[in-house]
Amino acid sequence: MVKIAPSILLADFSKLGEEIKSVESADYLHIDVMDGVFVPNISIGLPVLESVRRITGMTLDIHLMITKPSRYIAQFANAGGDIIVFHVEAEAPENIMSAIEYIHKLDKKAGLSIKPDTPVGALLPYIEALDMVLVMTVEPGFGGQRFIAEMLPKISELRHIIDSRGIYCDIEVDGGLNLETAKLCIEAGANVLVAGNDIFCAPDRAERIAALRAARPEG
Ligand code: DX5
Ligand code: ZN
Repeated sequence: MVKIAPSILLADFSKLGEEIKSVESADYLHIDVMDGVFVPNISIGLPVLESVRRITGMTLDIHLMITKPSRYIAQFANAGGDIIVFHVEAEAPENIMSAIEYIHKLDKKAGLSIKPDTPVGALLPYIEALDMVLVMTVEPGFGGQRFIAEMLPKISELRHIIDSRGIYCDIEVDGGLNLETAKLCIEAGANVLVAGNDIFCAPDRAERIAALRAARPEG
């Protein structure tokens, strides 16, 4: 089943509680954490996550776009994250497996993400330990960007590897998703779709969430 994860980066933060209520029919709530170093933007952090955790029972999908994310795993887990996703490019290789194990020790789900220039091979040493891989379909840092179609083969390659090894690992895609690009991602093998602009700018957010979930490849 396809899961939908609205990204609150595109929400109106002056009324965040209402904004979250408007997307509660989704599966996960995607929270983009940016440090201004790993990506050229600064977004939100721990105090906002704590407030969000108090007002919703949604599964909180934390997308850490920060350097050396292993420093902050415990804090994001304690603040209410359910799925902790970090970037393979942001952490020293020797720390990556221990960071995944630490997330599991804290009883959270672990995800690893790749930027557009990073090949699938960077995820493979860890794939059997992961609950989710996240393929960025835009350069991380900003919402509302255009989908990079050249990322579709990476999704297909991951789907093939995961299925042929008989492991369970979600494939999440993030960036530039709408009804058209969502179809392409599902066809390629993704099963968790992040959408910011497409959901928060839709006239009826619940209807758009349902439409994205039901997006199916043609034919
Ligand atoms: C970009 C973020 C995305 C972004 C998605 O760095 O990771 O989650 O908010 O927004 P849209 O769907 O508008 O591309
Ligand atoms: Zn994201």
